[in-house]
Amino acid sequence: MTDTPFTLTLPFPKVIPSKVEAHIKRPLSSLRGMFADEEAYERMLGQEDTLVYEVFEIKRNEEVGELALGVSVVHPGVVGAEFFMTKGHFHSVLETAEVYYCLQGEGFMVMETPEGDTSVAALRPGTVLYVPPRWAHRSVCTSRQGDLVTLFVYPGNAGHDYGTIEKQGFRKLVIDGGNGIAFVDNPRWKKEAGS
Ligand code: 6PG
Ligand code: NI
Repeated sequence: MTDTPFTLTLPFPKVIPSKVEAHIKRPLSSLRGMFADEEAYERMLGQEDTLVYEVFEIKRNEEVGELALGVSVVHPGVVGAEFFMTKGHFHSVLETAEVYYCLQGEGFMVMETPEGDTSVAALRPGTVLYVPPRWAHRSVCTSRQGDLVTLFVYPGNAGHDYGTIEKQGFRKLVIDGGNGIAFVDNPRWKKEAGS
């Protein structure tokens, strides 16, 4: 890992970083239990293990003072009425923030705190989103044609707590409500015991 200044480019139209040190692929099978309509999920998975999203990371030491960065690409699609989305997570170090810059596509960032505050921010090309410390975050692609592409930067020591979200879910879901995009309460949301 170079410790000298470096540049990278995000060449359009694909906006995949010119320098990628980790390429994470998240197919449907890696998101079991995350979509509300489990029947639709099983039906889709039975047909094809569709690629839902990818993350292109520029690796840095996971230590205080460093910044991790990369590009997240959520592909268009739905499971039942629910739009394709990332797993979502709290940072293991809860008191760490994150900045997202939307490069392409359209969607939303669904966010919540352990205390139950919720927020949904629209993402369009040029949108800069500041996710404060303590807010879990999940990217949702609501376009039916194009990818939702965001550049993200967060503290190198933040870490990822997926477990809480895997157990509780997010309080809000983003669905295609028939006459447009709707934000609905997650009927399966439940507080993790003792958390
Ligand atoms: C992070 C960022 C971001 C996120 C991707 C994929 O903390 O690393 O929030 O890079 O990891 O958007 O989302 P999931 O980590 O929830 O799968
Ligand atoms: Ni994050």
